Amino acid sequence: MESPLQAWRDTLGELGVMGLIREPRAQAPPEAQATPEAQTRPAAAPTPANPPPARPQAARALPAAATPAAYTPPADPVGCPPPEVIAGATSLADLQKAIQGCLACPLGPGRLKFVFGEGHPKAQLMFVGEGPGRDEDLQGRPFVGKAGELLDKMIGALGLKREDTYIANVVKCRPPDNRTPSPTEARACMGYLHRQIELIQPAVIVTLGATPLRELVGVVEGITRVRGQWKRVQVGGREIPVMPTFHPAYVLRQYTQEVRRAVWEDLRAAKAWIDRPDQG
Ligand code: URA
Repeated sequence: MESPLQAWRDTLGELGVMGLIREPRAQAPPEAQATPEAQTRPAAAPTPANPPPARPQAARALPAAATPAAYTPPADPVGCPPPEVIAGATSLADLQKAIQGCLACPLGPGRLKFVFGEGHPKAQLMFVGEGPGRDEDLQGRPFVGKAGELLDKMIGALGLKREDTYIANVVKCRPPDNRTPSPTEARACMGYLHRQIELIQPAVIVTLGATPLRELVGVVEGITRVRGQWKRVQVGGREIPVMPTFHPAYVLRQYTQEVRRAVWEDLRAAKAWIDRPDQG
């Protein structure tokens, strides 16, 4: 029977990162590698007293084909809770109960299942993806398809279990044909994600792909350029380091050593931040 060590080595081999485990990446705290502005600032712990760099506010121009048809929300949206109800949810279960009937954007009526997110309610490591795909819509759980399998393997290669982390998405309902959620749809769901983050209080958020980086963190530069560079997001008065990396579905499409190595390095940097000795 395969030993746990061999299984771990196999996973790293499959990810194409086996040779990398002996190449520790120079560790620097998030702020030292953050945005170009942050690189000129002295290093300091990411606390509310050390505010993040100004978020780029540039609006995103959607290609015409991706612009969703105009949607008029129902006059009396069923199960679309007001902000005070969201803010008043004191547990993830309460929040889920409050929002799972949401019809605040055009995605609601088309879903099979609301994909709230899942994982450890006090996870240190939180992943944020784009939105549910077909498998997730069927099961009501995030990242359960092929991309999810790869994500699970990468989490395992970090020495963690999926249940140790929390996995959520920018939007909780499947966009038709797996298209990118529109800014309006992302905005309609953002209060839910913010409340999840407030309740979980992760030490690090890893954004998967361009959409969560743009919609949650406000970074509009291409993911290929900014992956691996620490960013920050302010949620509920707390500043949280963000590590942007490629979406696992992109890794599957672009299954090159370079892309796999990049994701592996990003995840290791996030884990190293959690494990840093001065944590506390
Ligand atoms: N892709 C995502 O962004 N999220 C999921 O939950 C599944 C696939």
